[in-house]
Amino acid sequence: MKNVNREIGPRIIGLDPGAQSEIDNLMIEMDGTPNKARLGANATVGVSMAVARAAALTKGIPLYAYLGGAEATRLPVPMMNILNGGKHADNSVDFQEFMVIPIGAPSFAEALRYGAETFHALKAILKKKGYATGVGDEGGFAPNLKRNEEACEVIVEAIEKAGYIPGRDIAIALDPAASSFYENDTYELKKSGQGRLSNTQLTRLYNSWIEKFPIVSIEDGLAENDWAGFKEHTSVLGDKIQIVGDDIFVTNTEFIRRGISEKSANAVLIKLNQIGTVTETIEAVELCRKADWGFVISHRSGETEDPFIADFTVAMGGGQIKTGSVCRSERIAKYNRLLEIETELGNEAEFGNPLAQYQR
Ligand code: PGA
Ligand code: ZN
Repeated sequence: MKNVNREIGPRIIGLDPGAQSEIDNLMIEMDGTPNKARLGANATVGVSMAVARAAALTKGIPLYAYLGGAEATRLPVPMMNILNGGKHADNSVDFQEFMVIPIGAPSFAEALRYGAETFHALKAILKKKGYATGVGDEGGFAPNLKRNEEACEVIVEAIEKAGYIPGRDIAIALDPAASSFYENDTYELKKSGQGRLSNTQLTRLYNSWIEKFPIVSIEDGLAENDWAGFKEHTSVLGDKIQIVGDDIFVTNTEFIRRGISEKSANAVLIKLNQIGTVTETIEAVELCRKADWGFVISHRSGETEDPFIADFTVAMGGGQIKTGSVCRSERIAKYNRLLEIETELGNEAEFGNPLAQYQR
């Protein structure tokens, strides 16, 4: 806040908010480090987003239309994190996020309903099995399951209990966040006691899960520095599912460029505060588009109620958002804003989600 109020503020007050890239570049210059280490990415991104909002208000148009133009009509399919493990929960599950994706839903509103019903069905199932139903950081349940696989098993059960067909109506996505259990060049599944695995063995484990469960997307299946592992991971799994890089790319165009040339993934998780300005975030998205890669606009585990990413997702038109489960108001704020946008767009709203290609 000090940096915003005392340093950035005095330099930008009076400037035209329509000059987004000039203002963002001014902040990059003022910061003077390669990673916003001095001013802080949360300070620069806050200002950058406020500038975009001010410009949209000045023009009298919604934020998604300001950032995306007249083509900004595509609503995203949500990746909903309904079961948490890893660093986000105190339980015996090593993998951080187990998400449902309503790939067969006909609209965003329906997709949200599919997800909400599955979330509540899961709660009932966990309760019946004697598991805790308190939620983790992103609003997913954090039961003390015995094995990592059990997470997929109870989710499939929940999808069915809610009246949907796993793989056709609702699929599963994982974010193991493998950097969090990578030690001494191996993957240590410590919380579950499933032992140490090499990158090749871990990829093989994912492959066996893809055969058993309707998994259509894996994010950070390997650790952020395991570039060689990611290349193999993508060559083995990349034709069957979406491979998303989060920690490996950190929304940085330099790393995304390397990933594209090495075929390290086929999609990128996009987080505005990871790179620190709206302009640089749009550059990251453009790189994905050019390479024909997918991209998912994402929240953070520590979030605010600001629904900026809802508008941003529609503006970028990639058709995917990751913003947590169907509880905790900082997650719901984004879903509510997307419902508003879908209603406002009316007949113009589109919902062609890129993961439908993996429907089974
Ligand atoms: P974060 O990551 O805890 O760094 O926000 C969440 C995620 O990987 O989606
Ligand atoms: Zn992640």
